[in-house]
Amino acid sequence: MPDLNFHRRLSVAPMMEWTDRHCRYFLRLLSPDVLLYTEMVTAAALIHGDADRLLEFRAEEHPVALQLGGSDPALLAGAAKLGEQAGYNEINLNIGCPSPRVQAGSFGACLMTDPQLVADCVGAMAVAVDIPITVKTRIGIDDHDSYDFLRGFVATVADAGCEVFVIHARKALLSGLSPKENRQVPPLIYERAYRVKQEFQNLAIVINGGIDSTDQVGEHLGKLDGVMIGRHAYHHPFWLCQAQKQIYPETDYTAPDREWVLRQMHGYLQECADQGVRPHAVIRHMMGLYAGEAGGKRWRRFLSEQVQDPDAGNDMLIRSLAVFAS
Ligand SMILES: Cc1cc2nc3c(=O)[nH]c(=O)nc-3n(C[C@H](O)[C@H](O)[C@H](O)COP(=O)(O)O)c2cc1C
Repeated sequence: MPDLNFHRRLSVAPMMEWTDRHCRYFLRLLSPDVLLYTEMVTAAALIHGDADRLLEFRAEEHPVALQLGGSDPALLAGAAKLGEQAGYNEINLNIGCPSPRVQAGSFGACLMTDPQLVADCVGAMAVAVDIPITVKTRIGIDDHDSYDFLRGFVATVADAGCEVFVIHARKALLSGLSPKENRQVPPLIYERAYRVKQEFQNLAIVINGGIDSTDQVGEHLGKLDGVMIGRHAYHHPFWLCQAQKQIYPETDYTAPDREWVLRQMHGYLQECADQGVRPHAVIRHMMGLYAGEAGGKRWRRFLSEQVQDPDAGNDMLIRSLAVFAS
């Protein structure tokens, strides 16, 4: 059993369409210890759909947390059980997503106004599984944006057995802003998460939102238990090597070089191809590997063209190295 309190010092956020199993496999090559989250999977999709396909992941991805969406305690309990059986290390409940589609299903951020229902969901899942149940939330929604509102939410949900809260430190506006704007427009108020930690010292509090440097991570870790990184980790994946070194200094870690990562991913791509996975599904997550490096744009352009070419063959990652020689 991995020590999640250790791993959650740094985590990569759940991101729909982004943090799928291919992305996680890639990120794991860069950092052995960062805690990885899946994309959100709805409890209904797991219970009524193809759970084996939705939950598929490789042992190399550990430690990995499954994020669920939903608001029906029984359905969530069943989905959490499936996640535990599949080998996930943690189940995380999404109480932060503001998208209209999620709102229409009455889950995500809108559930912040019904802490008792969230507590019921957490309680049902906690009874169903032995792995930790955690919650990812915002600091508020719409006009419910006071510290007391957040405090009440955390207190009620913690009572039901949630010991870890990931707090995206901006509120969500449920009408008028797109999901993308909801990740940019409402101001970040990290102080709110710090205050929650001061008041609930027995809870692990992980901060999320707008963090993009190891210095910032270090600063937050002085006050909180963990830092979750979303967009920066996706767009600048190699940053995770620097982060691994600084955030887990007690580990014996030598940062890989990018060429080694490419060669590993080449092997992975062959295995995926055998299962009928198109190169694009894997390579699209790697486009930031050379971000900011000389020749990085050329490399990216080369691969973007290759993945569109049906005759390109599966050795495109190895061939991409030649871009740097020219
Ligand atoms: C493309 C994309 C998809 C996302 N999907 C999810 C999701 O499925 N579940 C969730 O809780 N948050 C989701 N988020 C929000 C992130 O987890 C995170 O809270 C947000 O991006 C702020 O962190 P950052 O500033 O480090 O990116 C998504 C964000 C992005 C950019």
